[in-house]
Amino acid sequence: MKNICLNIEKALGTVSKEQVFAREAESNACMATLHNGTGAGNDFLGWLHLPSSITDAELADIEQTAETLRSKCEVVVAIGIGGSYLGARAVIEAMSHSFDWLTTDRKNPVMFYAGHNIGEDYLYELCEILKGKQFGIINISKSGTTTEPAIAFRILKKQLEEAVGKEEAKHRIVAITDARKGALRTLATQEGYKTFVIPDNVGGRFSVLTPVGLLPIAVAGVNIRELVAGAVSMEKATDESVPFAENPAAIYAATRNELYKAGKKIEILCNFNPKLHYIAEWWKQLYGESEGKEGKGIFPAAVDLTTDLHSMGQWIQEGERTIFETVISVEAMEHSMIVPTDAENLDGLNFLAGKHVDEVNKMAELGTQLAHVDGGVPNLKISLPAITPYYIGQLFYFFEKACGISGYMLGVNPFNQPGVEAYKKNMFALLNKPGYEKESEAIKSRL
Ligand code: PA5
Repeated sequence: MKNICLNIEKALGTVSKEQVFAREAESNACMATLHNGTGAGNDFLGWLHLPSSITDAELADIEQTAETLRSKCEVVVAIGIGGSYLGARAVIEAMSHSFDWLTTDRKNPVMFYAGHNIGEDYLYELCEILKGKQFGIINISKSGTTTEPAIAFRILKKQLEEAVGKEEAKHRIVAITDARKGALRTLATQEGYKTFVIPDNVGGRFSVLTPVGLLPIAVAGVNIRELVAGAVSMEKATDESVPFAENPAAIYAATRNELYKAGKKIEILCNFNPKLHYIAEWWKQLYGESEGKEGKGIFPAAVDLTTDLHSMGQWIQEGERTIFETVISVEAMEHSMIVPTDAENLDGLNFLAGKHVDEVNKMAELGTQLAHVDGGVPNLKISLPAITPYYIGQLFYFFEKACGISGYMLGVNPFNQPGVEAYKKNMFALLNKPGYEKESEAIKSRL
């Protein structure tokens, strides 16, 4: 089996190979800090050996629960936000038919998502579409107290209980939360829901390979064993014992930090395959929450190409030179589609006739890379042999490992997210939450 592969050659106009390799000792030290558990946030290192420690029994339990939901439901709503949402959606969108909801020979339930926004119209329309449908709910919240998913769950639980009765609803609701704490744990115990535990030492954005990601992914019909196997192989390929020069996570971490030092403050994750859109959303959370703190951190942005070459392309080519790109390049497509010949050739595209659509896409990718490099945008490339659960598993672990090293290189705790509390405090104060009386008074005086 091949591995995903990192190429930094096209970033070496801005930083030199020597500069990147001069970070070897630092990278090794950060790697050792991770593996010895001696750094900041060391109580959140459960992800580090997670792939290789998942047991067959755990996977079988997840698969069996998925099968129950699959047999009962035509739609399953995964409720969650941030790390309790993005990983599952990333895999499901990457592995599903692009027009999934309209396929007629369905083998898998339709997956919907809720609790990742507070959109009244979104929730109304979701409830409308679920009327008369056999649906189930996976409610995911590590803290068990996050407002967005809690609101969505209240609404959908009520609708489900009214539709199928309280007893049957219990068999269609699965809760994934902390082992002991939080409102969701209390509720699940009280109602008798099937539950899965999010380990204490795995933070939300590192939790895709726990039941948080694995259960919805399995419900959607994706092979979670392949996903985990891919992650296991990358756990080995990025291990502490692998020398810096051969360790893709270390090289990625070193290169992006060197680029940051050279003034490249924004990293744009680019894909040339629309199925990878939510992989980028997952990546944005991973790096944004891990590194953006103490007035530091590369801003993680993302574009879908060639789509966004017709919107963001101008900025990338000629805007402020503070960006670099990391392109996820997929080598082989699953399907074959040839550009047809046309007798009239009014669009002048007969020179493409007989070529695979992906051949055109690959030339767009290469042309874009060279244009952006010429425009002063350093380019890193991660090649994926194909979009499969195995390679996505590799990609997840690669990014997680690199993120841990990179955060320590930057000098921050990559495993906390103190900044996400500020909006919550204000929101609760504005909504007059009991216990927030002082904050309410203070914030209202500012309005
Ligand atoms: O990475 C994180 O910790 C956060 O983004 C959380 O995943 C997100 O806030 C959801 O939290 P919870 O699972 O507690 O509802």
